[in-house]
Amino acid sequence: EVGRRQRLLDAHKIAGEFFREQLLTPPAAAGRAFLQERGFDRSAAEHFGVGFAPQGWDALLKHLSGKGFTQEELKLTGMFSEGQRGIYDRFRGRLMWPIRDIAGDTVGFGARKLFEDDQGPKYLNTPETTLYKKSQVLYGIDLAKRNIASKRQLVVVEGYTDVMACHLAGVDTAVATCGTAFGAEHIKVARRLLSDDGTGGEVVFTFDGDAAGQKAALKAFDEDQRFTAQTYVAVEPTGADPCELRQRRGDEAVHSLIRSRRPLFEFAIRSTLAKFDLSTVEGRVSGLRASAPVVAAIRDGSTRMGYSQELAGWLGIADPNEVLRAVKGA
Ligand code: CTP
Ligand code: MN
Ligand code: MN
Ligand code: MN
Ligand code: MN
Repeated sequence: EVGRRQRLLDAHKIAGEFFREQLLTPPAAAGRAFLQERGFDRSAAEHFGVGFAPQGWDALLKHLSGKGFTQEELKLTGMFSEGQRGIYDRFRGRLMWPIRDIAGDTVGFGARKLFEDDQGPKYLNTPETTLYKKSQVLYGIDLAKRNIASKRQLVVVEGYTDVMACHLAGVDTAVATCGTAFGAEHIKVARRLLSDDGTGGEVVFTFDGDAAGQKAALKAFDEDQRFTAQTYVAVEPTGADPCELRQRRGDEAVHSLIRSRRPLFEFAIRSTLAKFDLSTVEGRVSGLRASAPVVAAIRDGSTRMGYSQELAGWLGIADPNEVLRAVKGA
C-alpha cells in the first residue's frame, strides 16, 4: 500500500534527522570520539548521515510519537522492540548509520555499540521489514551508483566504516552488504548498474583477512558462476580492512589495495594450495587433489582450461596434461 510505505519512509527520514541532531549533544561524546579516531571528520560524518541513538528506552519513541506516528506504524519500522509493557527503542547508546536505497531514501539503520561492555552485539541492524530487505540492500549504493555506472566497477567491502573510508579515499564505487553475504539478489542489483546488458564491468571484493572474510570470498566464488561481470579479490596482507588501512597508511594505501586485485578464481585456487607444502611431492599431489575440484567448478570452458594450465605452473608440475586429467576427473 502506497500510503503506508510513504509513512514508513517518513518515519525513517525523521529518525535519521533525530539521530544526527543527537550526535551533536554531550551524551554522544563517545560517538564523536569514535568517528574522529577512525579518521572521519564532521563533514564526512554529515555526508554519510551518521548519527547517535541516545541511551534510555524511549527517546526515539517519544520523538516519533510526537510527530504523529501511531504505535502500529512504529512497530512496522523495525526501529522498536516489543516487551510486555509495549514498544521501546531498539537502538540505544549506539552510533547510527542510515542505510539508504538506491533512490537515497533511508530504509533502515546499522548501529554500532561504543563500549565493549554495552549489551548486545557489536552491530545491530534493522530487522527485515517491508522497506528493509537485507538480501538486497547495499550500503552506499545511493552515493556510488553513478560512479559504478561510469567506471564500470563495483567494490564490495564488509562494513559501513569501510565504505566511508573508501569513498573518502576516492574509491567512490564502494558498497557493503549489511551483516550478510553478497548473494544472488545483490548480484542482480550490481548487474543492472554495471552495464545495460549485464555482461560488462568488474566487481572487486575486499574482505577482512579473518575467517569470516575468507568464508565470504569462497561464497563469492559460488555466486560468481551466476555473475557475468569479471570478479576480483583484493586482500590486504596484514588483514586490515579498508577503514584500518586508511587510518594507518592513508588514502593512497586504499587505492593501492584495490589496484592489487587478483581474479577471484586465482584467489580461490591459490588459497586452496596455500594449505599444502608444495616443496614435497606428497604436498603437490595433495594440493592437486584439493584444487582440481575448484578448477572443475569453473563453468566457462576456456577459462577452466586456462586455470588448469595456471595450476600446473603454481604446482610446479611439468606436464599440464596431468592437471587436465585431475580436473576432468574431479
Ligand atoms: N555488520 C553488520 N551487521 C552485523 C555484523 C556486521 O552490518 N550483524 C557489518 C558491519 O558494517 C561491520 C562489518 O559487517 O563493520 C564487518 O563486521 P566485522 O568484521 O565484525 O566488523 P569490524 O571491522 O571488526 O568492525 P569495526 O570496524 O566497526 O570495529
Ligand atoms: Mn524531539
Ligand atoms: Mn571481520
Ligand atoms: Mn573495521
Ligand atoms: Mn572489518
